[in-house]
Amino acid sequence: MTTSRAIGWGMGTLPRIVRGEGSYVYDADGRCYLDGSGGPAAFSIGHGNREVNAAVAAQLAQVACGYRYLFTSEALEELTGLLLRECGPAFAHLVYSLSGSEAMESAMKVALQYWDARGRPGKKRFIARERSYHGNTLGALSLSGFLERRRPFEGSLLDVSFVSAANAYRPLRGLSGKALVAALAEELDARITALGAQQVAAFVFEPVVGAAGGAVPAPEGYASAIRKVCDRHDVLLIADEVMCGAGRCGTWRALEHDGVVPDIMAIGKGLAGGYIPLAATVFRKELGDTILTEQGVILTGHTYSGHTAACAAALAVQRIIARESLVARVRARGETLRRELAQALGRFEAVGDVRGRGFLIGIEFVRDRATREPFPAERSLSHLIGREALANGLICYPCAGNVGGVSGDTIIVAPPYNASEGELAELIDKLARAVGQGLAAD
Ligand SMILES: Cc1ncc(COP(=O)(O)O)c(C=O)c1O
Repeated sequence: MTTSRAIGWGMGTLPRIVRGEGSYVYDADGRCYLDGSGGPAAFSIGHGNREVNAAVAAQLAQVACGYRYLFTSEALEELTGLLLRECGPAFAHLVYSLSGSEAMESAMKVALQYWDARGRPGKKRFIARERSYHGNTLGALSLSGFLERRRPFEGSLLDVSFVSAANAYRPLRGLSGKALVAALAEELDARITALGAQQVAAFVFEPVVGAAGGAVPAPEGYASAIRKVCDRHDVLLIADEVMCGAGRCGTWRALEHDGVVPDIMAIGKGLAGGYIPLAATVFRKELGDTILTEQGVILTGHTYSGHTAACAAALAVQRIIARESLVARVRARGETLRRELAQALGRFEAVGDVRGRGFLIGIEFVRDRATREPFPAERSLSHLIGREALANGLICYPCAGNVGGVSGDTIIVAPPYNASEGELAELIDKLARAVGQGLAAD
């Protein structure tokens, strides 16, 4: 069956999922898996939550979907109010979509339409970063510094300009601390100048890089430094918080940690926690007001944007997150989880770095701890570990290619925000076993 073999890290035929409850999912053969990565860092409150399921069922019993150009709904209005409150007073507009990729497409389109509405239609170029992922649609893929996912489509992608990744473990010119931040900010500044600020619409980045880097937070001070560069050149700042946002990093917006407010932000994944696909692009009041005043309509979105049952699911998920103070829990527990993982895995010479923020933690494997040389790509170490973990009953998120787009092995750990202490201990235990097995295998 092509569908069951389409993805899955070369695992052959995939297990057939039949049930999920809390932090566990079960397959048709009765095997149980602890979801240590929320799938791809998506399932923020675990599986099978009765309150969310009841909210969706109640919405479906009333009406599944009010088409966005004809109707609003209680679920949509309440969710929009909640999201704008969580995002903070700078944000006043929001466009829903179904996936992170679409949310990033909308982010690009809002930026372009804003400049057009401002009478500056020449501002069409985007600058993004190497070792980044923003989605699989052609626009979002164009922004992505992800060699493997781009390769077959090169030639049809937008002409995006790339600057260096902000990675303290694999830093630009071997720099660290403030010198690294200054060099990265200077690089962006020089790139905008070289392209011509009058041509540049926006700079796009993930505050904590997900699959392309293996949970890499930018160095302290980076976000505010690039915010200043963008302001100086009248270039918009787009934060892709599809993976790292909606509480995953211990603040509702990931950039809250840095005290930085972007102009446009994409959220997805944990927003509705995987119960029904939902993503959103949130943007500053001035951007939306300018577009609406000058052009009357924000030209983005899809048939099912703001799908009513999806909004009901997200509203229920977000109410649980708020009621149970789960973002504060992730903030308080995340750093300890990272330390516990570092301790449990430290005995393996091949574990070079354990980093991350909140419940988005990356483990990077290296052939040589001193030189940080990666393993050869042909060994597929991260996927090997991912397969061993799955065989042990643990779901984690293996990523490859974080070094130069070809080699490099990382595993992302991103448990549900409400995973119990026992489940976190089980995660560490099973992952350590899988790492040992993966490294021993040839
Ligand atoms: C940072 C980031 N942006 C965008 C996307 C695309 O989201 P989706 O797969 O829902 O289209 C992803 C998906 O992994 C992501 O991690």
